[in-house]
Formats: sequence, structure tokens, C-alpha cells
Amino acid sequence: MRCALFWIIVFLLHCRFTYSRLATPPLPVPPIPSASQLKWHRRELIMFFHFGMNTFTDSEWGTGAESPSLFNPVALDARQWIDAAAAAGASLVILTAKHHDGFCLWPSRYTDHSVAKSPWKGGKGDVVREFVDAASARGIDVGLYLSPWDRHEETYGLEVEYNEFYLAQLQELLTEYGSISEIWFDGAKGGNATKMNYYFEDWFETVNQLQSSINIFSDAGPDVRWVGDEAGSAGSTCWSTVNRTMLKIGDSSLESYLNTGDPHGTDWVPPECDVSIRPGWFWHKNETAKSVSQLLNIYYNSVGRNCVLLLNVPPNPAGLVSCDDMQRLKGFRAALSSIFSSDLATGSAAKASSQRGGKGGQFAASNVLAGDERTYWAAEDDDRKHGYWIELALPNANARFNVVRIQEAIAMGQRIMKHKVFADKKLVANGTTVGYKRLHRLGTAITARRVRIWISESRGPPLLSAVGLHYDPFQ
Ligand SMILES: *[C@@H]1O[C@H](CO)[C@@H](O)[C@H](O)[C@H]1NC(C)=O
Ligand SMILES: *[C@@H]1O[C@H](CO)[C@@H](O)[C@H](O)[C@H]1NC(C)=O
Ligand SMILES: *[C@@H]1O[C@H](CO)[C@@H](O)[C@H](O)[C@H]1NC(C)=O
Ligand SMILES: *[C@@H]1O[C@H](CO)[C@@H](O)[C@H](O)[C@H]1NC(C)=O
Repeated sequence: MRCALFWIIVFLLHCRFTYSRLATPPLPVPPIPSASQLKWHRRELIMFFHFGMNTFTDSEWGTGAESPSLFNPVALDARQWIDAAAAAGASLVILTAKHHDGFCLWPSRYTDHSVAKSPWKGGKGDVVREFVDAASARGIDVGLYLSPWDRHEETYGLEVEYNEFYLAQLQELLTEYGSISEIWFDGAKGGNATKMNYYFEDWFETVNQLQSSINIFSDAGPDVRWVGDEAGSAGSTCWSTVNRTMLKIGDSSLESYLNTGDPHGTDWVPPECDVSIRPGWFWHKNETAKSVSQLLNIYYNSVGRNCVLLLNVPPNPAGLVSCDDMQRLKGFRAALSSIFSSDLATGSAAKASSQRGGKGGQFAASNVLAGDERTYWAAEDDDRKHGYWIELALPNANARFNVVRIQEAIAMGQRIMKHKVFADKKLVANGTTVGYKRLHRLGTAITARRVRIWISESRGPPLLSAVGLHYDPFQ
């Protein structure tokens, strides 16, 4: 009997020492993104289509007095617009359903200032419908812009009446065109416009009721914020977090706060960088598309700084994306593929200052090479005075690279506040935030046996989902 007890104790001790429990994921560092915000961030590139009355009057801001008879895009083919978006690699497309001039691209029941009064398709056309159908046929998601400022609508200036009118149009767009992934609100308003409050909070609540997985964009979120400029350039420090209570739609004094975000922000409202492929938002005969190297610069300054790039491509008066713009988009995508489709870090041996759950566990340093954003390297929880690091020993010490890509597992919160990149102990890049994606251009191409990323300040232990090394021949 005593002997049996002895062997049971021995057995239990054995279990205690050989059974290693799977390490749990670390706690998030709030605020964290919603599922829709996370999906939005991973898109990286969204395409905007500014099209409407201005396309026919060669202007950027119409007056509202334009005759609907001017609108006649005889060759309009929304499938060709979607081809352009697909060629650039966008998974979401946003259309200006109504711009400031008030002309509606769908036959709204609340105004006759719309396609229904135009010669296009004998007044039976609906650009929003064609856009939505073309996108869904290609598996591309749709977003809409409905300008709050309306220079045609006669109730504009009568606060309650106009807010009701706007809400009615919003309801048409959000109930009759299927699933809408993003809705875009801006605070643009001419200096001469009648002073009037927009009931943004009522509008937002209605939007969320009608489309449960939509992201609402505005200067102040709530889901996605404006980056504070129209040049496609985020701050080199760029937090997904802000204090929403500090934001106000249409307040230009907040532009630098929007550009960098707030490390202490209590709300997850990541930035979107809107910029046009041409100088203007609408198509003009006298303007041409930016070069591939300009577009790449924009990419590094937006996607490479924790933002999503919203690139505007204006269709022409025939109703088509111009051939030159189409070629430019293909060139832009080809350039991105040539830079990022090969990763010189692939096949590296990875080690780190610490690995949650031990080496070879589910939070191992090698996760940064796995090409899966859901897996990540996690440092141990203990607070490190001198920072955390991860190091890659490259398989090919002769491979030249001039771009370093670092990605945080943002689903668990944005954490990194300061970091440095060393190649064979030499400092080659440094910066503050990382976020969804941080791209460092090194200026000159280098080779290295070992690349180490040193995280000197962080809100909690850092979690990295990817580290990549690339060669950009366009630099
Ligand atoms: C504003 O109103 C003034 C005076 O009526 C006019 O001269 C000016 O052109 C208007 N500006 C705009 C942007 O409409
Ligand atoms: C944002 O809110 C946090 C928490 O209340 C606060 O600590 C921080 O100072 C705020 N940021 C700014 C810029 O006021
Ligand atoms: C092209 O023409 C439009 C309309 O006349 C004008 O607003 C715009 O400034 C012009 N663009 C350039 C680059 O000159
Ligand atoms: C590191 O950051 C400082 C500014 O904080 C900058 O002057 C320096 O050039 C950076 N070094 C590298 C290698 O990027």
C-alpha cells in the first residue's frame, strides 16, 4: 500500500515537470480595433472615384446651378473603373454619390437634381447601381461619399429640414444598394455657405443601424479618421489612437493632431490618406497622372506609416478611366510587386531578447517570417528597462536590400513608441511608431549578416507579426 502511494507521488511529480502548458496569448493593450477596422487596415489601398457634374463643367466645386442636361457620359462603363481598381490591387472602391453641387448619381426620390433628369440613358440610368454591380461581380467591396454641403438643395440652411433631407438620402443609399463597407463624410464647406449644424451623431447612428459592419470616415471618425492633409502623407509618428473628444469635423486647427494621432488616445480611429492621382479630384483635360515614383513616395508615406491609402482616380466625361491613368495604375502595382514580392529575410534564423512561452513556442521569434499576420513574436511580459530586440541571421549575406518592413500585431493594440534598426551592429534606420506597417527606406542598398530591430520604448511588450527586407530599384 505504502509502495503504491510512493509510485503515485513519483508519477505526479513526473507529470508536473514534463507537462508544459501552452502559453496563453498576452493581454491586449487597449484601445484595440474592431473587426471591421482591422479588415479595413489590411486592405492597404482603397480607390476613390470622383465623378459627377464637375466632370462635365471642368470644375472642382460646382455651384449647384448646373443643368442636369450637361450630364451625359455616353461610354460609361463601371466595369472598366473596377478593372482599374483591380489592376492597382484595391479591394474597396468609393464613389462620390453626390458632391457639393448636389447632383445625385442615383435617381433619388427626394430631389429631381439627379441622373433621372439627365439625357444619359434617357434618364433611366443609375451610376451608383452600375458601380455596385460591377464591383460585386469582381468581389470588390463598395463605399460611398454623400457630401453634407449641398449647394443645390433649397432646404440647405434650414437646419431641421436639411438634416432630414440628408438623412433620407443616406437611407436610400444604405438600404437599396446592398452591403456598403465605408461611408465618407467631410466637413468641406465654402466660406459663403449658410451657417448650419449637421446632425452628425444622428447620421452616424443611422448608418450603424443600417449597415452593421460599415466603417464611418470623417475628420473625427468614429471608425476611420482623416490624416489631416490631401497629399497622402502621414506623420512619421503615426498612432491609430486619438481622443475622439478632442476632434471636431471641419476644424483645421486639428490637422497636426490628426496627422500623428495620440500615444495616450483612448479611441482606436486609424488614419486614411486621401490623395488624387492627378492634381485635381475631378477629371480635367489639362491635367495628367502622377508618375510611378511619385505614387511610390505616397505609398511609403501612407501605407509605410501605418495608414491606408485612398487613391482617387477620376473618370473622364466619356465615363471611363483614361488610358494614361490605367497604365499608371498598372505600373504602380508592378512596381510594388517587384519590391515586395521577394523578401530577403525569408529563410533567416530568428532570435529575440525573450520569447513568450519559450523558444519554438507559439510566440517564437520566427513567427515574423511566417507571412501570416495572425501569428506574431511576443516578448515576455516582464518590463525591460533596456528594451526588447529581435534579430535575423540572413541566409544570404550578399543580398542587397534598401527597405526594411516592420509590422505590429495591431489586433492586440498599437505599442511601439521608439525603435532602431541595426545591420551588423551599425544603425541604419530609426523611428518612433510602427503600427500595422512601417517601411524604412535606407537611401543606399546594403548587405548584412544580421539585422536587429531594437525596440527601446513600448506600451507593454511588443508584438511583431512581420519583418521583411526588400530591394527597391526605384530609389
Ligand atoms: C462669396 O460671396 C462674395 C460676395 O457675394 C462673392 O464675391 C464671392 O465670389 C463668393 N465666393 C464664393 C467662393 O462663392
Ligand atoms: C487623451 O486622453 C488621455 C486619457 O484621458 C490623456 O492622458 C491624454 O493626455 C489625452 N491627450 C491629449 C493630447 O490631451
Ligand atoms: C486645369 O483646369 C482646371 C479647370 O479649368 C483648373 O481648375 C485647374 O487648376 C487646371 N490645372 C492645372 C494644373 O493647371
Ligand atoms: C535617427 O534619428 C535621428 C533623429 O531622431 C536622426 O537625426 C538620425 O538621422 C536617425 N538615424 C538614422 C540612421 O536614421
